[in-house]
Amino acid sequence: MDRYIGALKERFDPKFCNFVEGEHNVMYRNYFLILLIGLLTFSTSCKKKKDKTIHIGFSQCTNQDAWRETMNREMQVAASLYPNIKLTVLNADGITKKQYIQIRQLINMDVDLLIISPNESEPITPIAEEAFDEHIPTIIIDRKISSKKYTAYIGANNYHIGKNVADYLGNLFKDRREILEIRGLDESSPGQERHRGFMDGLKHYPNLEVTESIEGEWLHENAKNLAAPLLNAQKFDIVFGHNDVMAIGAREVTPEDKAANMFFVGIDALPNLGMEKVNENILQASFLYPTGGNLAIELALKILNNEEYDKNNELATSVIDAGNVKVIKLQQQQVLDHQKTIDKQISRMAQQEEDFNDQRSLLNITLTSLVLLVVVAFWLFYYFIRINKKNHELAQKNDAIERQKKELEEKNNQILEMNKEVEEATQAKLSFFTNISHEIRTPLTLIQASVNTMMDQFRQLHLPTSLIKNLELIHRNSDRLLRIINQLMDFRKVELGKAGLSVSKINIVDDCENIYQSFIPLAKQKEINFSFDKDENRCDIWIDQDKIDKVLFNLLSNAFKFTPQNGVIVIRLKTNFPDHVYVEVSDSGPGIPEEKMKTVFEPFVQQNEHRSMGTGIGLSLSKGFVELHHGKIEINTSKEGGSIFKVTLPKGKEHFKEDQIIPIREQEKTRSYDINSKNIQDSEPLISGESHKEHTVLVVEDDMELKQYLINLLNEHYYVKSAENGKQALEMIELENPDMIVTDLMMPEMDGLEMTQRIKSGLDTCHLPLIMLTAKSTQEQKIEGIETGADAYIEKPFSPEYLLVRIRRLLESRKTLQEYYQQHIVSPKIANHNGQNSLDKKFLSGLIRNLESNYSNANFSVEEFGQQLGLSRIHLYRKVKALTGFTPSEYINKYRLRKSKEFLLNQETNISGVAMEVGFSSSAYFTKKFKEEFGVTPSQYLNESSVGSSH
Ligand code: FRU
Repeated sequence: MDRYIGALKERFDPKFCNFVEGEHNVMYRNYFLILLIGLLTFSTSCKKKKDKTIHIGFSQCTNQDAWRETMNREMQVAASLYPNIKLTVLNADGITKKQYIQIRQLINMDVDLLIISPNESEPITPIAEEAFDEHIPTIIIDRKISSKKYTAYIGANNYHIGKNVADYLGNLFKDRREILEIRGLDESSPGQERHRGFMDGLKHYPNLEVTESIEGEWLHENAKNLAAPLLNAQKFDIVFGHNDVMAIGAREVTPEDKAANMFFVGIDALPNLGMEKVNENILQASFLYPTGGNLAIELALKILNNEEYDKNNELATSVIDAGNVKVIKLQQQQVLDHQKTIDKQISRMAQQEEDFNDQRSLLNITLTSLVLLVVVAFWLFYYFIRINKKNHELAQKNDAIERQKKELEEKNNQILEMNKEVEEATQAKLSFFTNISHEIRTPLTLIQASVNTMMDQFRQLHLPTSLIKNLELIHRNSDRLLRIINQLMDFRKVELGKAGLSVSKINIVDDCENIYQSFIPLAKQKEINFSFDKDENRCDIWIDQDKIDKVLFNLLSNAFKFTPQNGVIVIRLKTNFPDHVYVEVSDSGPGIPEEKMKTVFEPFVQQNEHRSMGTGIGLSLSKGFVELHHGKIEINTSKEGGSIFKVTLPKGKEHFKEDQIIPIREQEKTRSYDINSKNIQDSEPLISGESHKEHTVLVVEDDMELKQYLINLLNEHYYVKSAENGKQALEMIELENPDMIVTDLMMPEMDGLEMTQRIKSGLDTCHLPLIMLTAKSTQEQKIEGIETGADAYIEKPFSPEYLLVRIRRLLESRKTLQEYYQQHIVSPKIANHNGQNSLDKKFLSGLIRNLESNYSNANFSVEEFGQQLGLSRIHLYRKVKALTGFTPSEYINKYRLRKSKEFLLNQETNISGVAMEVGFSSSAYFTKKFKEEFGVTPSQYLNESSVGSSH
């Protein structure tokens, strides 16, 4: 089960699916989206086509009467039959200017067709023409404009209606009758035409005369106001109102007795208005004037659908009077009832259409979703198969990769294991060589010393030169062995990263000059043209002179070894660069073949048989030393075919660590090389690790061999200075301030005894530990040695280990003394310490006495201190430092601070008082120093001690 779940997980592991995701999914997702959008567009597009809206604008001149309301309603009902017709009606309230503006608005609305019922003909004509000119189909309804620039006209013939009225009255009345005519608006076409038709009609009936004619402007109130005085004052038989509302108005203001005998006739015959008034016998007749609202919409559609239509559409008219009003009303009612039924059906149809549309949309969405679902299902199925296939392939690949990985890992492990074994074996071999080298070095040095002595003795005894030559051979070869051993040990140190640097400021020009001088005898002997080419006389750089000299010696020795007689060797030093210098050693030897150049600095690589480096580590070691200096070493071939080795070293000392730079006083002042032409390695210094050196040992020995031996022996652990006799040694002590002296007894100029006596009796030197070495081992001499103050007496031949142990012990006991004095600054028990020179004891007692009487003096200086103790500033410094490990000013400060503790505990004065008391001129400085020394401020110290004492 678990396995099955695991397999499923793996199958749907995103890392397997990523392939499909990454490469194709985005593309297919896009296809899917496009399809979806397409389908949705398709499902809604049919409906949109049918919905194209027709915008009809209608400018209605007025809305102040029922006839206009009827017209508007008819239009709206007709328009409502077409859901795509949008009808905008703007009503001008009988104000011509307003209508003008409203027509412009409709034009700007981009209506598809414009219907205008102008208030007045002339003023509206220009804007109607403008619409027509802009290719907006224009229908003029009811009232006319005074231009033919319109698409169609619809309305009854007003001239005929006026004439019909005259004919109707002429037929009705045969005797003389006087008529009051109430005209519509004179500026409107119906007003003008009805009047003209009426007057023309009356010409046939001379018994009928219009005795008064007034302009009622189509308005009920106007008619009333204008007609009232006339009707009251005069007698009229007939009142003809150009519309029903004006005729009714006149009837209303006619005195009842007069009205009974009068005939009121109007136009319009609206069912609930004029027709009703005829039915009530308030009006005696009215002429039907249809509004044509519904027909206007029909006509508009014909025009817009490019169907055939008439430009002039005349509406029929007829008279309504007591004779037909009832029948007509009945018909009218039936029409109205029909209309209601139609209205209901229309609204039901509209509802059904809405439902139908909704259902159609729903169906479309359902169908679309279904199609999508099918597509998605196919898509998913397709991808399921694809992913399955891919996963299967990937799983197979994965398995193969896993297998390969395992194999590789196994191989890798094997290689690592083998590597480790090889490395361990190599390390073991190298350690073995190093250990052996160590062991060989000391006896070899002793052999050298003995051979030297023997050579001297042989020469003095005038023994055969062949014997001396043999000894020289032994000497040369032991030197060679020593050099190889030292080189091997240095190489190990570099390899293990244990080669330390002791960097000091060196004039590289002088240094090269010295090396150059050292090789001149050899050059002469081998008849080699040897030169030193430099660009400056001085250039100080920071180097470990010992190591860089070693590098240059290696390169030069090599050059001399392979340069034939009459050849050329050049040392070229270039210092004139801002941040580096370089030294080149070029020779005219056989050179190194191109293909070997890359490996020339690799260890254990033998060059060709002509340029073998012996051990094969010389150049590698040189490279190691140069790189320790952050420099580089390169090899090139000269034009003549010889080799050019170039060592580049950076200027400045920022690239060295602080502990790699040795103090100035420790830097060697001079160095000379005595190159014996028979053996160029004679004076090559033996290189050793110097990273942990702390002390300087002065070796005083007149025997050069032994001196060199001692230097080499001690050099591993100490800075070593040497002198050849007691006199030189005293000068060196003054100059170098060593920490320890190892001296021979028998020496020219000043022997060991005298020197020891002088050292031990001088206040500034008596603290120096001194070991005396001598071959004379009589008891008296030992006693003599010890009595002069030597700290140890070692007989020759001595064990080097023993000498090293003695030196270390003496330095340690000096350190112990220093630590004691550091802890007991104020009141040391001086007499209790053995091995303490009596002069030192006296000096220390004097020192403390002196401080005791001066510590409260803020002006007490180190100079004054020295004067009172009889020492110069530098000697005071050395003395105090040697005995206590502190500088004099540190010692004074510490003494004062310890004293201050006593004052604080006595609580005789406050903190600033105590500061003054112990010679601090500022109490802030006192507090700072106190905190540095004891880790707490004086007041914290006081608090702690009072809490401590209260418990
Ligand atoms: C309505 C009306 C009608 C008349 C028509 C003439 O405003 O006055 O009564 O028949 O206008 O345009």
